[in-house]
Parts: sequence; structure tokens; C-alpha cells
Amino acid sequence: MSLALRGGKPTRTKPWPTWPIYNEREIKALEEVLRSRFWGGGVEDSGPKEKEFEEKFSKRHGCSYGVCVSSGTAALYVALLSVGVGPGDEVIAPALTFWATGSAVLMTGATLVVVDVDPETYCMDFREVEKSITNKTKAIISVYNYGNAPDMDKISEISKENNIALIEDCARAHGFMWREKPAGSIGDLGCFSFQQGKFMTAGEGGIIITNNELYAERCRSIRTCGRIKGDDIYKIGIDYWLNWWNFRITQFQAAILLAQLERLEEQLKTRQANCEYLSKRLEEIEGIQPLKVDSRLTRHQPWPYLFKYDPKSFGGVSVIRFVEALNEEGIPSGGLDHPPLSMTLSAHLSSARIVRKSKYPVAERAIQESVTLPQHLFLGTKEDMDTIVEAVEKIKKHSNEL
Ligand SMILES: Cc1ncc(COP(=O)(O)O)c(C=O)c1O
Repeated sequence: MSLALRGGKPTRTKPWPTWPIYNEREIKALEEVLRSRFWGGGVEDSGPKEKEFEEKFSKRHGCSYGVCVSSGTAALYVALLSVGVGPGDEVIAPALTFWATGSAVLMTGATLVVVDVDPETYCMDFREVEKSITNKTKAIISVYNYGNAPDMDKISEISKENNIALIEDCARAHGFMWREKPAGSIGDLGCFSFQQGKFMTAGEGGIIITNNELYAERCRSIRTCGRIKGDDIYKIGIDYWLNWWNFRITQFQAAILLAQLERLEEQLKTRQANCEYLSKRLEEIEGIQPLKVDSRLTRHQPWPYLFKYDPKSFGGVSVIRFVEALNEEGIPSGGLDHPPLSMTLSAHLSSARIVRKSKYPVAERAIQESVTLPQHLFLGTKEDMDTIVEAVEKIKKHSNEL
């Protein structure tokens, strides 16, 4: 049978699980907010649904405080401001991440220091972090990417030893656990995204979690136009945060997020089991190497799932062509989800505030060897994972057609 790209029958025609998922729970929650006439964000403090969500989500992730904001980007920006990052400071971030991690730093006026990733995990390489610390370093942003984690033991050690704030970018890491600690509770602040494709979504949204009362209070203040906490509410004040904005969310978003939070555990279990099963099976194919998940990362799910592809084992077929063939076989897939930060930001912005090391061999090689699969595929069954393996094997067998 020839490849679907050459007119053959696709390996899979059955639809994949859809995303996002909702049912009567979300519909009822939305209706309740509608009828309550409390639609907007709480101006002087979190609105009722938001407050409930902040409490539940932060507790679930090992923190005492949660502050909802309008996006994951806003969460990073507000978190950076809350630890006092500004012009003249340096912030270290990994080369492989969505560019919001970098642009949030640039928005504060600080300098972005991009470091390479570890070849096994594709997450921030702690050795590169160590080398990049200067007396101007004010914060490190560690990112959970590809259902994986950087060495959080080493990175927290480095941040503590050097008295540098550690902000965890958990935009892709809802429900992750590093040893016994939830992602987002290891550093000083954890930042999550609720954008449409994320593990929990309200279309858009974000949250900052922390165990530091002062940081939480600052985040709340910055989120709501610089109001200062009075006796029990946030009031307009003078002479406080100049860097304030309106980053509030609506009660509709919070209501949906409360329902989504109830689904997190079950979905995580399904995705993690499917991810581990798929990796085991793909490992058996010569030329395919799933990313190695750090064994200390006990709870995880892929966003996106990533495996390394070696064209040499596929008759020299480029990764781009391989991905085209995989899509035609009925497996939604892509290459590396974003070009390395070192390349993206330097193409678009004045490099004056971006410190680039001479080379990013690991991150830049990732473009040539990465194949990614979206998270919602992992909500399916083991048989669904088998069809992915089948499609890869078929392409390998027929690589001469490409
Ligand atoms: C690693 C990472 N950080 C930050 C963000 C920004 O989140 P948002 O899109 O909600 O602004 C994203 C979103 O894709 C992300 O993947």
C-alpha cells in the first residue's frame, strides 16, 4: 500500500478526540454567572468565581496564593514586576520556549539572557544557567516544555545560592509534579496559561501562584490598576506601582476554569499513560527517539509531544517532508513548534537588550530533528497511539516514495 501522500489509503481516518472539552458543567456554570449579573473581574478584589478558582487552583498546585490574570504572557510579566525586575536587570530564559517567555522580560525593560537547552530534555540546561549569572541577574525563568522539565533541583539551588528570583513558566505544565512538589510551587512564583490549546482553558486567561504573601499582594495590585490593599480591598492609591495595568479576567472565564480544574486529574492520567506507551513503542523504531522524560518528573503530560527524527534512517527524507506525509496519513503533527528564542527575538527586535551566547547548538539543531504531536491526541486510547506508530512505520517502509 502506498503512502497517503501518493494517493494511498491513509493509516487513520477516524477522528481524534476534540479540544476543548465541555459538557453541562460548563454550560451551567456560565448560566449561573449570567444570571448573577456579576460578569466582570473584581475591581477591588477578585470576583466571587475568580476567588474560588484562585483558592482551588493554587491549593491544588501547592501554593497559598493565586492571582488570575488575562493570559500566560501577562502572568509572566506581572510576576517579573512583582520581584522588582526592571531596566538594567538581566533575566535568564531557555532558548526553546514560546516567545512570550522572552517578550515578557523585554516588556519590563530588562535584558533577556537566552541559554541553550539540555539535549536529553530540551528544557533549560542548568550548566548554561550557571555560566550566565552576573551581578545584574535578577531572575531565572525555567520552562516546562514538551511534557518535560529542566533539572529543577539544580535550578532552585542556583537561584537560592545566588539570591535570584525563580519564576516557573508552567504555561504547559498544569498538574505536573517534580518529586513531591507541584510545578509552580518550587520557585518563587509559578505562571500558567489558560489559552485555547492549553490543558485547562477558558479561551484565554492565566494565573500566578506563590507562597510569598508580598509577591501575591503586588501581583494583585498590578493586575487591578495599581490599587493598594486597604483594610480588606484594593483601593486606588498614589505613589505605588507605576507599572500597573488592567489584567483582570471575567467571572465567565473563572466559572469555566472551575469546571476545567475538575477534569485536570483524569485527563492528566490519560495523557501521561498514553505518552509513556507511545514513547515505548516509538523507541523501537530505528531513527525515532522520543524525548527522555526526567524520572524525577513524576506527573506530566505532553504539550506538545516531541520525538527526534533522524532522516538518515528514513532514506534522507527531510523532517518537513516526513511531517507532511504523517499528516496525510491522518496524524496531526508538526515540526518544532517554535523557532529558538535566540533566533526569533533577534529577528524582530533590537538586539540591544537580548544577550545571546555565541551558539545554541542543541536548540538550533532541534529544528532539523523535531516532530511534534498536539496534546489532545493523548486523550484517546492505546489503539490511537498504535495508529501513530503504524503511520511512522509505513512512512519508513515507503520512504523511497517521498
Ligand atoms: C511556554 C509558554 N509560556 C508562555 C505562554 C503565553 O501564554 P498566553 O498565550 O496565555 O499568553 C505560552 C503560550 O503558548 C507558552 O507556551
